[in-house]
Amino acid sequence: VNIAISASILGSDLSNLKNEIQRIESAGADMIHFDVMDGIFVDNISFGIPVLASIKKYTSVTLDVHLMIINPLKYIEQFANAGADIITFHYESSSDINETIDRIHSYGKKAGLSIKPNTPLAGIIKYLHKLDMVLIMTVEPGFGGQGFIKSSLDKISALRSVIDDKGLNVDIQVDGGINDTTASLVRGAGANNLVSGSYLFNAKYTAEAISMLKS
Ligand code: DX5
Ligand code: ZN
Repeated sequence: VNIAISASILGSDLSNLKNEIQRIESAGADMIHFDVMDGIFVDNISFGIPVLASIKKYTSVTLDVHLMIINPLKYIEQFANAGADIITFHYESSSDINETIDRIHSYGKKAGLSIKPNTPLAGIIKYLHKLDMVLIMTVEPGFGGQGFIKSSLDKISALRSVIDDKGLNVDIQVDGGINDTTASLVRGAGANNLVSGSYLFNAKYTAEAISMLKS
């Protein structure tokens, strides 16, 4: 299995964002993970559309946008035009799921659907055939640097079985508390796209840290 690493810039030195992105890109990160928080869906406010548009000007790496906002449908057009390549929104948001997936695809972008740690897998199964990615949160969304929730491993392996049984080509992304120890657990359970923030950006040797996450 090919493992992709998506570096969460929430864990970077945001006062030095351009250098941080160039550093993580040259170390071999496959994607930049861009966490958008609105202070309503989660208890934190991060960054949004103008910051994404600025980053797009100097990077060609895949921009993986994770919307932790209450009404994602309303902002799909703006995130698409600002340069998102993948747009992931939450099952627990207030937007219509089918309509939001269709809107993302109408801009030629990949669509991801995310579930929080306490949300059962069952509700998202019916959308799998039209999704490019499922994001299983392995911490409560809102903050970087939290500890990995181990019970999410069962959810990952259950989802992997469903996807394989249906013969679908849907990526399984995990986000929260991913480091050299938890990475092997989530890979073993069937995840193929790993988000990492604090572990990657605090690593002394970034390229080595990325290869630790991959194997
Ligand atoms: C949490 C965010 C994550 C966060 C991960 O709400 O969605 O992307 O940046 O950070 P770490 O890897 O430090 O848990
Ligand atoms: Zn995230």
